[in-house]
Amino acid sequence: MSFPTERPRRLRSRPALRRLARETQIATQDLIYPLFVRDAIDEPQPIAAMPGHHQHTLDSLTREAEAAIRVGVRSFVLFGIPAQKDAQGSEAWADDGIVQRALRRLRDAFGPDALLIADLCLCEYTDHGHCGVLEGDAVANDRTLELYERIAVAQAAAGADVIAPSGMMDGQVGAIRSVLDRQGFTDRAILAYAAKYASAFYGPFREAAGSTPRFGDRRSYQMDPANAREAVREARLDVDEGADIVMVKPALAFLDVIRAVADSTDVPVAAYNVSGEYAMVKAAAANGWIDERRVLREILLGIRRAGAQMILTYHAKEVAADIPCWDEMG
Ligand code: PBG
Repeated sequence: MSFPTERPRRLRSRPALRRLARETQIATQDLIYPLFVRDAIDEPQPIAAMPGHHQHTLDSLTREAEAAIRVGVRSFVLFGIPAQKDAQGSEAWADDGIVQRALRRLRDAFGPDALLIADLCLCEYTDHGHCGVLEGDAVANDRTLELYERIAVAQAAAGADVIAPSGMMDGQVGAIRSVLDRQGFTDRAILAYAAKYASAFYGPFREAAGSTPRFGDRRSYQMDPANAREAVREARLDVDEGADIVMVKPALAFLDVIRAVADSTDVPVAAYNVSGEYAMVKAAAANGWIDERRVLREILLGIRRAGAQMILTYHAKEVAADIPCWDEMG
């Protein structure tokens, strides 16, 4: 009698067999590269907690995008830091606002080769740092939607292929879909930040975008990290309102949420490997405590295995250059 009869190790015995049996792959076209562009600076400004990333000038943004395109990353999500902030965040929809200028610049430089996604929010543009207009100390949902509509139109007019509302206002996807359609932008897709949690993992981003709220926090609009079923509800609402892609954010502490959203919707699912997740990897790697390349492979495979088809990650450019070597690492 031979024991055991089932021997899973057989399929692990040689690289060629492991490759054949591999269930999950990452390709460069799955990666979306977030970039920051800042108005009224002459030189790119390094972001301390995000080594390798900068608040870009229009010129340095174009160079960074070109370097990414060279290694196969063609999708970008843009965040703007305006020269002036005000109570409404009016630079967000100004025709010459920094993101609108960046969209035109990248389109001029790369044509249809670049897929341009515009993050749509107000927190980088308001002097109080909240994602919408205030009534007293509260963010007013429906008045904020009117401003989101203006931003969506400005971004679409400047050439955004995809609009990505991240403010977590109720009804934001429906409002944006409707105004885009009315203005003739029926071809522009909406990537909805459907389940965006009130997370400490956004810390480095807020330094990068200058978007820390001046008072209070975002817990009255972003989700409670304790909730998973609610994420399914948020995703369903966004799909009903016209979302083309739904996103879960952050990724690593929310892999179960990615899975639940993937199982309950029939649109593509994205996950955002956020700034704090990037910073932790970079800090540990800089100390020599982890093997960064192998850790990144595991992180991206994990997000993918959980059910995300596309991944927004600050590692996009560096891993794209490395992906061809991953088979050997496994
Ligand atoms: C703004 C926005 C945030 C992020 C993306 N869009 C920050 C926030 O909600 O405070 C975070 C991204 C990251 O941490 O990488 N609405």
